[in-house]
Amino acid sequence: MMVIGPGRSLDDALRVVLDKSEDMDGRDKALCRALAYGVCRWYFALQLVIAEYLKKPFKQKDKDLEAILLMGLYQITIMKIDHHAAVNETVKLTQQQNKAWAKGLVNAVLRGVIRDNVSITEAYLEKSYPPWLVDRLVEDWPDQYKSILVAGNQRAPMSLRFDTKQMSVDDYLQDLRDRSIVAAAHELIESAIILDKPCEVDLLPGFSTGVVSVQDPAAQIAAKLLDCKAGMRVLDACAAPGGKTVHLLQSTDNLHLVALDQDQSRLDLIVQNLKRTGLSAQLVCGDAGSPEDWFDGQLFDRILADVPCSASGVIRRHPDIKILRRRSDIDKLVDLQRKILTALWSLLKPEGVLVYSTCSIFKDENERQIDWFVQNHENAKVIGPKSVQWGDQRPGGLQLLPGSHNMDGFFYACLRKST
Ligand SMILES: C[S@@+](CC[C@H](N)C(=O)[O-])C[C@H]1O[C@@H](n2cnc3c(N)ncnc32)[C@H](O)[C@@H]1O
Repeated sequence: MMVIGPGRSLDDALRVVLDKSEDMDGRDKALCRALAYGVCRWYFALQLVIAEYLKKPFKQKDKDLEAILLMGLYQITIMKIDHHAAVNETVKLTQQQNKAWAKGLVNAVLRGVIRDNVSITEAYLEKSYPPWLVDRLVEDWPDQYKSILVAGNQRAPMSLRFDTKQMSVDDYLQDLRDRSIVAAAHELIESAIILDKPCEVDLLPGFSTGVVSVQDPAAQIAAKLLDCKAGMRVLDACAAPGGKTVHLLQSTDNLHLVALDQDQSRLDLIVQNLKRTGLSAQLVCGDAGSPEDWFDGQLFDRILADVPCSASGVIRRHPDIKILRRRSDIDKLVDLQRKILTALWSLLKPEGVLVYSTCSIFKDENERQIDWFVQNHENAKVIGPKSVQWGDQRPGGLQLLPGSHNMDGFFYACLRKST
């Protein structure tokens, strides 16, 4: 409801709800999460089904009833849980919302769906995304768009990054086995481990001391591409919550790392991550697009520009993106990325390297962005990444498509500044 109404992110909404629900046990919380993620994942398809059974759409003030119906419908058509229980529990929710007058309506819609044996299957694949997003994917990836849509509807695995300096993969996997946690090393990324089932981070050996962190394998490529050396000045320009900051610091000793983010509350998450891992960085709250407000004049050897983006490559992890993202956001993001990239370029030493990354799969945010940049900056040259193992080699960089090698969708470009 908080997602489809006020447009809050699903993670935030769940945090608020679950933190308040002291009476819920672990199983209830897991069911609540599964329902919320599932409804967001299939929101557009479920809405189409509901529309067939309603004479008129819900008024804005009754969006809570729509949310209730979506949950009921999800349980019946996708989770395939006992119909009787699903209808009863869903109808009860109308009373909880003080809308007992809608009991009959909710009951009738759900009974109709059961009677007609409606099942959300492959046929609903395209209908489970907003039409603008499908159009954009067809345009950018005509041969791959179907597999991208399929991958976006899968549940992303919980992936870990362990500190290869502190432990070997075999030792860490053994530690997990000792705690009956089933996991395997990632097929390509040496620091990555994929868990069979998600688990609370506190149950992971080494989490509290920073041996292990939660991070998708695709995000673990950034630190390697930056290829930092001891003593370098490094700017992590859009750093919060600090996943890549920690990885950079763990990969190379003695870095002077500036972690910048414009959102103070998110910067606090970097503080927590640094504390957990026992590392340190210089934290700056500021706008990467306006360095005149925070830059101290000392140029950087390496810059990571992990810019704000559509997040279209991580829909399997954040299905609420389908609901929250709008077509009109993309052009605004492209402008913001240009502003940030241009401003950061002036902070890079000659011969320095800037790594541009997004978790997007839209070409406007990725290869076309880099193409625009090198056309407009004579001293910028794309030097990588070059990989034969994974991803699509594109003119401006490397594109990872979601689901391929069990990774999120990411784009990386490495740019060197000539003297
Ligand atoms: C993709 S996330 C970064 C993820 C992070 N690099 C990591 O690995 O954990 C993008 C971040 O950019 C920040 N951001 C957005 N616009 C910004 C700007 N103009 N200047 C600095 N940070 C910005 C957001 O607050 C957000 O934390």
